[in-house]
Amino acid sequence: MSIESDAAAVEKATVRASDVSELRRDELAHMLKENEFLRITGLVTPEAMRSCRQRMRDHFDVGRDRATTGEHKDEVRDNFQKWSIGRARHGNVDRPRFMRTFYNPLWSDDIYGLHPWFRVQCQVRNLLGDLPSDFALDHEQDGMWTAARIHHFPAGGGFMVAHEDTVLPAFYQTVDLAFYQSLLLITQKGEDFQTGGGFLEARGERISYEDHCQAGDIIVYNQRVSHGVDDIDVEVPFRQDSLDGRMSGLVTLYKTL
Ligand SMILES: [Fe+2]
Repeated sequence: MSIESDAAAVEKATVRASDVSELRRDELAHMLKENEFLRITGLVTPEAMRSCRQRMRDHFDVGRDRATTGEHKDEVRDNFQKWSIGRARHGNVDRPRFMRTFYNPLWSDDIYGLHPWFRVQCQVRNLLGDLPSDFALDHEQDGMWTAARIHHFPAGGGFMVAHEDTVLPAFYQTVDLAFYQSLLLITQKGEDFQTGGGFLEARGERISYEDHCQAGDIIVYNQRVSHGVDDIDVEVPFRQDSLDGRMSGLVTLYKTL
């Protein structure tokens, strides 16, 4: 789609609210059905995200990077940082990507100051999933926990191939839970990175939504929506010791293993 029609599609899918209590589940569900995705703006401010990004930089230690695979399942239930590079076939999918993940569960130390904003994102998730507003925030609940984490797509080629989420929706079906994925935009396109960014395919059209969003926006889509991240800032060389690039926050409900 062109940049103008992307802008129109994002605007049509936009909900403005300054507090989660202003959101109505039936209205969001209706908009999701109409547009296949949502952009919720106003709950989290760009300034809050800027401050978190600075704290991430202050705290960053490249020496803590762990490999794409090989971690113990309990390690990601605390502050933990790892790469995800390659096709992910060890996870029984074929999903090329190049990114780093910072796990930052809500019961771990709030080293980036993101926890208040992850909580807002969780409340949106719980509203859409018709769950109690504090479901699985501070502890496991009904065999699930909140895998609060940051995806960092580094400058110099960070990306995620277009895909539909398949693994988690299959699990959610077994517990009769609707699947919605949400992303908190931590970085600002045009400031933190210049080219590439998140896209999704809604109603047969490919939409590069980050050209029309601001840091702090929450993007929601359902399991039928193909999505990914286009190559970030390929004009600069990749540096492992840099936090430049694009970041998004996720609060996926994971099955307790
Ligand atoms: Fe995904």
